[in-house]
Amino acid sequence: MITKLFKYFSLSSLLLLFISSCSPHHEQSTFANAGPVAQAQSELFYLMFWIAGVIFVIVQGALIFAVLNFRRKEHPIPGSDFKLPDIPPKQVHGNTKLEILWTIIPALILVVIMVPTVQTIYSTYEPPEDSDPLEIVAMGHQWWWEFRYPNEGIVTANELRVPTNRPVKVILESQDVIHSFWIPQVAGKKDTVPGNTNQMWFQVDEPGNYSGQCAEFCGVAHARMRFRVIAEDEADFNVWLNAMKTPPKATASDGYGLFLAHCSMCHSIDSYMDGSYEKEITVQDERWADWFDNQEESARVSAPNLTHLGIRTMLAAGQKDMTRENLIAWIKNPSDIKQGTRMQSVGSVYKDGAANLKEHEVEAIADYLLSQIPEGWGSVVTGTESLEEAEVMVWNTPEEQGEYLFTNQGCAGCHSLSQDEVIVGPSMYGLIDRSSSKVEGLSAEEYIYQSITYPNEYIVDGYAANVMPQIFINLGEEELDALVAYLITIK
Ligand code: CUA
Repeated sequence: MITKLFKYFSLSSLLLLFISSCSPHHEQSTFANAGPVAQAQSELFYLMFWIAGVIFVIVQGALIFAVLNFRRKEHPIPGSDFKLPDIPPKQVHGNTKLEILWTIIPALILVVIMVPTVQTIYSTYEPPEDSDPLEIVAMGHQWWWEFRYPNEGIVTANELRVPTNRPVKVILESQDVIHSFWIPQVAGKKDTVPGNTNQMWFQVDEPGNYSGQCAEFCGVAHARMRFRVIAEDEADFNVWLNAMKTPPKATASDGYGLFLAHCSMCHSIDSYMDGSYEKEITVQDERWADWFDNQEESARVSAPNLTHLGIRTMLAAGQKDMTRENLIAWIKNPSDIKQGTRMQSVGSVYKDGAANLKEHEVEAIADYLLSQIPEGWGSVVTGTESLEEAEVMVWNTPEEQGEYLFTNQGCAGCHSLSQDEVIVGPSMYGLIDRSSSKVEGLSAEEYIYQSITYPNEYIVDGYAANVMPQIFINLGEEELDALVAYLITIK
């Protein structure tokens, strides 16, 4: 009895749970349509729902009628205790009229469903002909989303900014396994398949945040592969477009060098510069190939672009709000927040689990990242006020300043000063002797200067291109000269 009651109880709670998922008040409800594509998909759903509903009532009604009407009855014999057994109803076999009917009606129903379905498949594939769609590439990665704006030359991650009332054409790709792009209130789901390009479009009517989610099981952190669509009116969206092309307003802090030494192998942070879009695509492909070729020992893996991270609203593909506290916790031990993340298994700074960094170093990296806010953009994240103004330093010689910059700008994280030690890039030992003969017509100083500002121009044998960040071009002329002056002294 108890088990029976328990069964009914759990069944009805399950049913309640199921019905409550239909509430349009949830941020991932497909019933709260926020654009024309979602609307079209909903209409299709309602058409099928009501047809199925009518069929359900007819079939269940016939069943209940048959059960009640033809149930076994007993016929008492008047004046006696005996009862006559039930007489079976008249047995029939074959009914041509009925059989024709129940073949034609379902066929008609299927046609009624098929016509609008096929229409919707086409109408949600290509944006309306007379529109001016914004084209983006949504790239699935285990377990985060890369968003590219090929015509605007912007790469970002996990937060997709779009204008309202303008169709967004989405090119769907994947760099590893099958994922599925889904913004429940707006459009979806459509798979991103490695080696194959899919397409869809959507449009958002009202400004706001819309929750997105990977909808295809893609590995251990599938459920933690979320994203956010931030819809803004055209003017605000254009402000963002320009901001993404503007250098950050903050100057280098202590975290800058640490970031370069520990994070820049996998994360780009400088994609506001001209030509950085093509570079990021190439580097991302290389990172992915690196990891794919050597999953045991690869030092890098494709990772989210962190340009202007200070204006993002979430971290770890939607696991947490972007606050200083959360970011520090994330850098310290990413798996605590997102089990399965490759950040920890690949980054050498996590060799022993938690980040091999001191508390103040983690804080410095977090502050540096949060300081990445484009010039002219209001501070968004709380906690960045702690960022101090760059200290005023005085140097006696350019070499002295260069030595300071070498450590402070993170060069020392990848380049050793000793003859026999290689960290990531070539050692700086004896640079002057090697540099003068590298490129005909370039003096040692010119060659070193060139290699700092355009690292891919000349690659030393045995080292890969696109590893060194191209952000040192932003140093002032005086600082660059100081660096060169210092580097030629290392013997
Ligand atoms: Cu990506 Cu599930």
